[in-house]
Amino acid sequence: KGPYDYLIVGAGLFGAVFACRMKAAGKKVLVVERRDTRGGNLYCDRIAGINVHSYGAHIFHTSDKEVWDFVNRFAEFNRYTNSPLAYYRGKLYNLPFNMNTFYSLWGVTTPQQACVRIEEQRRAAAVAEPRNLEEQALSLVGRDIYEAFIKGYTEKQWGRPCTELPAFIIKRLPLRFTFDNNYFNDRYQGIPIGGYNVLIDGLLDGIEVRLGMDFFEHRSRLEALADKILYTGSVDRYFDYCFGRLEYRTLRFETEVLECGNYQGNAVVNYTDAAIPYTRIIEHRHFDGSGPESRTVITREYPSEYRDGDEPYYPINDVRNEAMYEKYKMLADADSNTLFGGRLAEYKYYDMHQIVRKALDLSKREL
Ligand code: FDA
Repeated sequence: KGPYDYLIVGAGLFGAVFACRMKAAGKKVLVVERRDTRGGNLYCDRIAGINVHSYGAHIFHTSDKEVWDFVNRFAEFNRYTNSPLAYYRGKLYNLPFNMNTFYSLWGVTTPQQACVRIEEQRRAAAVAEPRNLEEQALSLVGRDIYEAFIKGYTEKQWGRPCTELPAFIIKRLPLRFTFDNNYFNDRYQGIPIGGYNVLIDGLLDGIEVRLGMDFFEHRSRLEALADKILYTGSVDRYFDYCFGRLEYRTLRFETEVLECGNYQGNAVVNYTDAAIPYTRIIEHRHFDGSGPESRTVITREYPSEYRDGDEPYYPINDVRNEAMYEKYKMLADADSNTLFGGRLAEYKYYDMHQIVRKALDLSKREL
C-alpha cells in the first residue's frame, strides 16, 4: 500500500538484523527509532577514546555457528573472554563458581575436597522443598557460597530479601570443578573491534533510518507507509496498556572518567556485599583494549525500582506479569499486519545471540 514493504519500529539488534535480511532480499524497508542513537541497548558511546557500553556490559557469546558467522560478516570480533571477579568483604574471588573460587573460599585444592565441602553444606541446609530463593540457593550450593556471592547481590538486584523472592528466579547454579574462570560455556565469544556500533552500522548499511522518531507520535502516517510492520518496542504500550502495565527492574548507570590507565585490572567486578549499593563496576577499556594509557572509564551499576519513563531492563516474569503478557500475546498473534519481536515486544530477557537467531528465523519465514 505504501512505498515500503516493511516499517521496522526500533533500531535495536532485532530490528537491525531483520532490516538487513529483508533489504538483502530486495525488500524496501524503513526503520524508525525513538532514540537519537542506533543499536538499542548495544549502543556504545566514545568517552576519552574508549568504547563505553552505555546500557551495561555486553559480551557476545554463542554456540550457534550460523549466528556467529552472520555477525562476523559485519564486524570483526576480538577474543575477549568474560572472567568476572566478585568482591566480598575486602577479598576478590573468581567467577563463575569454580575451583579457583573454592580454593580462595576454603583453601581446598582438589575437586574431591570441594565436592565434600559443598555436599556437607547442602545437607546441613536440610531443605526438602524450597519455598523461596534463599532456600533454593542453600539447597543447591550451601551456606558459604550463598552468603558470599548470592545473598547480597540478589537482594540488591531485586530490591527485596531473598526470603521474599520466589525460588524460580534461580533454576540452576552451575558449579565447575576445574580451574576455569571463563564465564560462558559457549564455543564462540567476543566483542566487536571498534565497539557494537560497528556491527549495527554494518547491519543498517544502506537502510533508511529515521532517528528521534517515536512510532506512536506518528502512528497513522507511518502505518500508511508500509505493507507490514515489525514492532520491537514494548508490547503493552502497543496495545495502549489495555490489560495494565508490565513490570520491570531497571538500572542506573554512573559513569566516571578516571586519571589512571587501569583502575581494577578486569572488565567486570561484581560487588556482592549488601552494604555496597552498586552491584558491579565495569571498566570499559578491558573489553577491547581501547583508550589512552593515562585515562580510563568506569561505570557503577545500581539496580532500582522501575518507574514510568525509566529504561525497562529486566522483565519481572512472575505469575501476575506472565498472565498479563499472555493476554497481550493473544492480541499480538491476532494482528496479521504486525510482527512482534525482541526483548520488549516479547517481554522476555534474551541474550544477543538469541535475538539474532530469532530475527534471522523471522526473516526466513517472511521470505
Ligand atoms: P532493544 O531494546 O535493544 O531495541 C529496541 C529498540 O526499539 C530501542 O532502540 C528502542 O529505543 C526502540 N523503540 C522502542 N519503542 C519505540 C517506539 N515507540 N518508537 C520507535 N522506537 C522504539 N546480551 C548478551 O548476549 N550479552 C551480554 O553481556 C548482555 N548484557 C546485558 C546487560 C544488560 C544490563 C541488559 C539489560 C541486557 C544485556 N544483554 C546482553 C541483552 C541485550 O541487551 C539484548 O539481547 C538486546 O539489546 C535486545 O535487542 P532488541 O532489539 O530486542 O531490544
